[in-house]
Amino acid sequence: MKKMWAGRTEARVDKIADSFNSSISFDSRMYEEDITGSIVHAKMLEKQGIISFEERLSIENGLKTILSDLQTGKLEISSSAEDIHMFVEEVLTERIGDAGKKLHTARSRNDQVALDVRLYTRKTAKEVIGKLKALIGVIKNRAEENLDAIMPGYTHLQHAQPILFSHHILAYAFMFLRDIGRLEDCIKRINISPIGSCALAGTTYDTDRFFEAQNLGFSEPCRNSMDGVSDRDFCVEFLSAASLIMPHLSRFSEELILWSSWEFAFIEMSDAYSTGSSIMPQKKNSDMAELCRGKTGRVYGSLVSLLTTLKGLPLAYNKDMQEDKEALFDASDTVKVSLEVFTGMFESLAVHKEAMMNAARKGFMNATDLADYLVGRGMAFRDAYKISGRIVSYCIVQGKILENLSLEEYKNFSVLFDESVYGAIDIKTCVERRTSYGGTSESSVREQIVYLEKVLKES
Ligand code: ARG
Repeated sequence: MKKMWAGRTEARVDKIADSFNSSISFDSRMYEEDITGSIVHAKMLEKQGIISFEERLSIENGLKTILSDLQTGKLEISSSAEDIHMFVEEVLTERIGDAGKKLHTARSRNDQVALDVRLYTRKTAKEVIGKLKALIGVIKNRAEENLDAIMPGYTHLQHAQPILFSHHILAYAFMFLRDIGRLEDCIKRINISPIGSCALAGTTYDTDRFFEAQNLGFSEPCRNSMDGVSDRDFCVEFLSAASLIMPHLSRFSEELILWSSWEFAFIEMSDAYSTGSSIMPQKKNSDMAELCRGKTGRVYGSLVSLLTTLKGLPLAYNKDMQEDKEALFDASDTVKVSLEVFTGMFESLAVHKEAMMNAARKGFMNATDLADYLVGRGMAFRDAYKISGRIVSYCIVQGKILENLSLEEYKNFSVLFDESVYGAIDIKTCVERRTSYGGTSESSVREQIVYLEKVLKES
């Protein structure tokens, strides 16, 4: 088969080399971006007097029909095309004749692909932002619904201090909020137009790069054509942002998996998001959460793959850069589907408040409050800490908990104790008294909810 670029060579490529070279199997998903870019390019060519009004009209109509034929499935993308850019141009020329051959004036596939990838990444980044917002909204709602649920707070996975379940899950809402910030920041740099950089050096035609940038929703054209065709930083930035969303989802997933075990039983996944075992009839597995956790690695892989591809590439375009797309697409798909599944799973799971509270009563989580009680009565914190520690070991030996020691027993450790100690070490009090900014008391948690509501509304 002869190639479009026949001329310098016979352009008869070995079959395996041909398929090795082709990107159509994966870049075909950018057909909309490719056509959008070409329509704007044709408009610019007309405005600058490079093509006629009739030629532009015929190109534009041709491209629009190709777009709708692809959308309805009337036109199939041929797997023998080298890439999506060639495919669209070939079909256009087949359909409209000579005018189609003028579309590629003052353009190269190098700036064309850079444009398509930017448009695609911008669209995806916005979709991911939308999904993150939906998830934050669900976390916020679940936090609001369950404000009375107290659970153990952990450090080193050991009981530390009692907290509100809402406080715990809202921590993730703030991580996802930062993820949105990173994507928004990345969009600023995606929004620079490479089109008009041409092959690498710009062009001799009197083009208007500002017109193209503006019509494609970019903030400005890139200032250096060499950079324009070889910059894939924005893909790396998107992949970095995606690579931080995944560990957030993964850590959250890990907790949900743990909490749905028999040992914890803090939550139960809904049937719609659980699976069973082929042999053990009692099983209800958290496969969705495990997959969110498991898919994290492949997103990191995409980031590292692209960073490695770019390392050592001389300017300007090199075919290595074709490898940007599969990494970008796979990470985009993975992060989007993971966010979607996770959101549904989290929205539908059951919260077992009693099991959380029962766990919160174990493990001496009010020992800090016991020390703080003595501090409130004038003792230095370090001394109070020691006494509180001694009381805990006494309880362990006696098989008791702090709540059921007698006042006499307390007084053996310090004369500062009186009846009020029981109120001070009540688990609910321990939570309620942590009113510091960002703390776990109901009022502090409500402030977080109000803040998130405001951010979601304003965005
Ligand atoms: N399929 C190519 C890519 O994805 C398009 C650009 C080809 N440019 C070239 N000079 N061969 O990178």
